[in-house]
Amino acid sequence: MSPRAKRPAPAAPRTAIGIDVGGTGVKAAVVDLVTGELASPRLRVKTPQPATPEAVIAAIGGIVDQLVADGHVTPGMPAGAGLPGVVKAGRLMTAANIDKSWIVAPAEAMLSARLGRVVRLVNDADAAGLAEATFGAAKGVQGTVLLLTIGTGIGSALFIDGHLLDSTEFGHVTYRGKDAETLVSGAARERRGLGWKKWGREFSEYMALLERWFWPDLIILGGGVSKEYAKYSRFLTARAPIVTAQYLNTSGIVGAALAAADIGIAAAVLAREDATDPGTAGPRKAGPDGGLASRATAQAADVAASLVIEDQPTR
Ligand code: BGC
Repeated sequence: MSPRAKRPAPAAPRTAIGIDVGGTGVKAAVVDLVTGELASPRLRVKTPQPATPEAVIAAIGGIVDQLVADGHVTPGMPAGAGLPGVVKAGRLMTAANIDKSWIVAPAEAMLSARLGRVVRLVNDADAAGLAEATFGAAKGVQGTVLLLTIGTGIGSALFIDGHLLDSTEFGHVTYRGKDAETLVSGAARERRGLGWKKWGREFSEYMALLERWFWPDLIILGGGVSKEYAKYSRFLTARAPIVTAQYLNTSGIVGAALAAADIGIAAAVLAREDATDPGTAGPRKAGPDGGLASRATAQAADVAASLVIEDQPTR
């Protein structure tokens, strides 16, 4: 039996770092996984342009370094990062609203190397859904729950009796002969100059398509456009009840941290090794990224200069 096998099983972590990579901002905070509340300030930097993996990871690294420096992060605390694309085996397989160079880059390994901790990548809408299913509008809801995030694109998360069917991409179904998000996302509404009534009716038609195929018992609207719900709710019709997400600004962060929780056992083992073996303490050396960690140290100085401490909402 190996020495590790004799150790008692480590407890699941109580906190994790949640990271949300959006079109305009990269945000992160430490999340209390029991309450769903933020356990640190929420830090934000502008999303670098072009938003390549190297640039975004440098931005994330700068924010997390700050959280570490401020004493909010314990060794081995796991991290989750929500990104706008399909995630398979730690890599983005699609990149509709982020630099195409993300596709198949070993992003999870690169981020783990930079942050010196285990990192789990998750689709941003799936992350938002996890927050709602665990603490918010979908908590305890049985049956089929569909969450749509409406912003630059349209993201989706589908739950069946509380279980996530990950990587649904309902923003890309064909609606009126086009990729749906190019017609009815928040960005598309602005680009097309549509008022709330016209947009609301089209969005309703789009939801009707999804209803015809999936028959959700509850529809949750999230993302930036859900904050304007009062302006268009009267133009929406659906068979299922529609509610807005309860987490508006922090769903991505909270959900990404939740996604990291199931890697928390491994993280706890690493933390204990770091604590007992000074030789392995601190950020691990870059492995599969070919030295990204050291290059990123220089870039972190730029990130630190542009870092903004947002307020500390718990939702
Ligand atoms: C992407 C999804 C993402 C959504 C919201 C879509 O373009 O394909 O993966 O969840 O945008 O960011």
